[in-house]
Amino acid sequence: MPISRDPPLLLIGMAPKRHSHELIAGPKEFVVNIPTMDIIKETLFCGRRTGRKHDKFVETGLTPMPAKMIRPPIIKECVAHLECKLHQQIAMGDHTLFVGEVLTAYVNEGVFLNRKFDLEKVKLIYHVGGSDFATLDPKTVTPILEK
Ligand SMILES: Cc1cc2nc3c(=O)[nH]c(=O)nc-3n(C[C@H](O)[C@H](O)[C@H](O)COP(=O)(O)O)c2cc1C
Repeated sequence: MPISRDPPLLLIGMAPKRHSHELIAGPKEFVVNIPTMDIIKETLFCGRRTGRKHDKFVETGLTPMPAKMIRPPIIKECVAHLECKLHQQIAMGDHTLFVGEVLTAYVNEGVFLNRKFDLEKVKLIYHVGGSDFATLDPKTVTPILEK
């Protein structure tokens, strides 16, 4: 989730037992890659298998690509990429809150229309619960508020 504009900060919650936890807490850098329905099966695989026992790039066929400002790779098949350096880490219940400062963020060619996701093309993933996922109705609503 986004939490600050200046500096640009985002937040993820991660259990300490995750392999990803070590990969963030150690190097203090990470990428948030935004997947779509085009790679829903690969995305669920990454969410159900640990990198301690699986090479998720090899097993899913997803492609690592060099990031622009940090060492961890971006995932080519994801539509947007937010490169972060760790700003703060806070233990919270049985999870750690990792606050990342976004050093650079970019989307793939053709993904944005008027600086927003083109929802006719980009089927963003929403987790409904369990192994169920849905995407958005591309119709957008722009309420006009009275003064
Ligand atoms: C839809 C979905 C959402 C998840 N969200 C989180 C989360 O917010 N934080 C977390 O620690 N694990 C979350 N998980 C669990 C991890 O993705 C899972 O434990 C994964 O195997 C961790 O891989 P790793 O050990 O390579 O880091 C989620 C799993 C799924 C399927």
